[in-house]
Amino acid sequence: MNSVEHLKKIIRNCTYAVLAVTAVIFVLFIIHIINVGKYNEEWRVITPHSSATQVIVDIHPRGGVTDSWEKVDTGLDTALNAKIYEMVVTNNAHTYVDDWYLRVNISESCYLNNGWCGTFEVHQFDESKNEVSQTLDLRNFSYSDITIGYHQAGQDLLLPLVPGDYFIYHPDTSDVSGEVPIKGTQELSGCANCGVIMYSISGDVNLSDYELSYRLHKTIWEGSEGMFFTISFFVIALSLLILGTIFLVSVRFEGRFRNQGNKLRDTFRICCSIADSRDYYSKEHSQRVAEYSRIIAEKLGLEKNDCDDVYNAALLHNIGNAFVSEHILRKNSKLTREEYAEVKKHTVRGSELLKDVTSIPYVREAALYHHERFDGTGYPHGKKEDEIPLIARIIAVADAYDAMNNDRPFRSKLMHEQIREEFIKNRGTQFDPSIVTAFLDIMGERNL
Ligand SMILES: [Fe+2]
Repeated sequence: MNSVEHLKKIIRNCTYAVLAVTAVIFVLFIIHIINVGKYNEEWRVITPHSSATQVIVDIHPRGGVTDSWEKVDTGLDTALNAKIYEMVVTNNAHTYVDDWYLRVNISESCYLNNGWCGTFEVHQFDESKNEVSQTLDLRNFSYSDITIGYHQAGQDLLLPLVPGDYFIYHPDTSDVSGEVPIKGTQELSGCANCGVIMYSISGDVNLSDYELSYRLHKTIWEGSEGMFFTISFFVIALSLLILGTIFLVSVRFEGRFRNQGNKLRDTFRICCSIADSRDYYSKEHSQRVAEYSRIIAEKLGLEKNDCDDVYNAALLHNIGNAFVSEHILRKNSKLTREEYAEVKKHTVRGSELLKDVTSIPYVREAALYHHERFDGTGYPHGKKEDEIPLIARIIAVADAYDAMNNDRPFRSKLMHEQIREEFIKNRGTQFDPSIVTAFLDIMGERNL
């Protein structure tokens, strides 16, 4: 396998790995989105007895000298004392409080007079324990619209509340108030300031029984999980970009290599044609042997580039015939001992010619050993079995098939069955048995 093919294989495997990791992270990301959605939808409640410290409620009287006063013109036959109460909601969570409301339960008789920013949902229970309620903006109301119990004391509205009654403060959602959302500590420790004016005889109203309902909000990119997915997607995108770039570069180089390989192969074809042309009966013999050799190599499971090497080496297996006289190569009658000895030299001469060729693996071995026999009775060195390079054993079978499948000066081509019988008869003696088996399969499959 050449370096470009090897690189493409690495890129392909890396891409599969990145895609597999991406699929896993994508599934985790979907789960993360679902969990963030649940997190954002969940209503949370804290009371004065809650141990939660993410969000804190503090209701306390405002301490200024003008923040409490006595009111005698109430029309209720009694003097009342007013006091301003601050209601502060502080968000110590790392995420936004994007929705909230505060319920204050009343434990003593008092009057709700005024409040700022949001609206007040006032709940009263009449003597028959029937609940009535109305939501009012205490800064901007009309007496004619009030449906719950109230007193008008001069310019002031007094909403009477007794134990069991309660009011719910809904913050102003306009951008101006800053009550919704309340920023978290990740940016600035945010808080919402609201408050009420309460009237009572004593002037001290207990507002410590409350419930704050709120929802936190975070984006999918927040927190350690959000950071994990941000980094993961960045790394995945970068990996795919790098792999894609390397792939495009390798494809470009592969095109150049292929072009060079085609030029090289054309040169080999010219060389083998020169050798084959000296024998009238061997025209295009080398090219056919090269094709059969490649098919056998593929059948044996060799890599594509190894099959190409087998093809190129087989093209040149008879290059040594260039040194054998045409008189001998074209002789129609039986060769003399001396002439046969001369023919046999084409293996050694061919290997000497190819000894400096480095671009095709085993090309010298192919030329030198393709007439060796599996049982060790071949030439030029009498090697046997695994001593004979695989490429030479492959070419030996391909070479024999082409010889039997074409007319020769001293005989006609053999029939299909005759060729199969010859291979079976010489399996393990002349030819490598495993290669014969492979080639018999090829003959059957390809109807050779
Ligand atoms: Fe040969």
